[in-house]
Amino acid sequence: MSSRGDSEGTEGRQIPVPGPESAAAASSRKSDPHTHLNVGSDGPLNDLNGKVLVCGPAIEALGLLPDGCAQTVVTSPPSWSLQDHEAGGQIGCDDALESYVRGIVVAFDEVRRVLTDDGTVWLNVVDSHTPDDHRYRVRDRKIRAGATSVHPPALAELKPRNLIGVPWRLAFALQSAGWWLRSEVIWHKPNARPESVTDRPMKSHETVFLLSKSQNYHYDTAAVKGPNERRLRTMWDINTEPRIKSGSSVEDHPAIMPMTLARRCIQITSRPGDIVLDPYAGSGTTLIAAQELGRNWAGIELDPAYVDLIERRVNA
Ligand SMILES: C[S@@+](CC[C@H](N)C(=O)[O-])C[C@H]1O[C@@H](n2cnc3c(N)ncnc32)[C@H](O)[C@@H]1O
Repeated sequence: MSSRGDSEGTEGRQIPVPGPESAAAASSRKSDPHTHLNVGSDGPLNDLNGKVLVCGPAIEALGLLPDGCAQTVVTSPPSWSLQDHEAGGQIGCDDALESYVRGIVVAFDEVRRVLTDDGTVWLNVVDSHTPDDHRYRVRDRKIRAGATSVHPPALAELKPRNLIGVPWRLAFALQSAGWWLRSEVIWHKPNARPESVTDRPMKSHETVFLLSKSQNYHYDTAAVKGPNERRLRTMWDINTEPRIKSGSSVEDHPAIMPMTLARRCIQITSRPGDIVLDPYAGSGTTLIAAQELGRNWAGIELDPAYVDLIERRVNA
């Protein structure tokens, strides 16, 4: 176990631009120490009052966190069969759809253990189509973040070019596993990149589910208002956020969540000082948003290179 308040970067990684923030938030972020754990070499924490970053697979990493420590989760697990993060133990790349869903449900059993009884999960899941036999997504070797080489395993029950419904398959499985499925939010992306499709509408949204551990849970209606100060609706217009490059060989994370989306979820279902968890932390967007909002955080990420990226961002 180590405590890191310094910045340990990965040469050549691309750091997404931090959003606007107050001077107080900026100064609270600076050299904010956190505990760093590695699955396999560190033991479980008895107590967690601050910030912790764990490198390793989500299921094992969650086992290092104490019961009931986190108030809310904001997370986007790897999508099924869209991206190859090239890390041993990653989910969503070579596994069958059923194993992918089961893997997340099993990890979420641990998430439930580490959540407070009135805790919640915001779960962003991407859908995809079964492939057309001729199409094989080819990866651009120069830009790791830009494309994938993943060819989805065949789904016996679906013909080619079918929308799979990954988010809802996962939602129903979580519901069966005991979670309360409370809401489906449509994250509409006004600036969505056009798709080269001519036989269906271009996709411009993703799904975010709100799940709760218990029937009653912490939800602050006043924390975020919709247009005209009305109560928040289920359709959220949030632009995807640009990445910056700082050199020719620079790479960043392929699936960064907009800071605006992470902030909104955190504000609604946590209070200052609470712990916000992301078990698939990627570039650390949830953790940075939590830090800016005066929350503590627990982040888990499998790929050590992304853990380095998170270190750089939380210490920026
Ligand atoms: C969609 S990305 C998350 C992006 C994140 N929301 C952000 O804004 O940067 C999913 C992440 O899960 C990680 N991952 C894949 N398999 C994992 C596992 N078994 N345990 C923990 N993390 C895993 C991938 O390396 C990837 O960074």
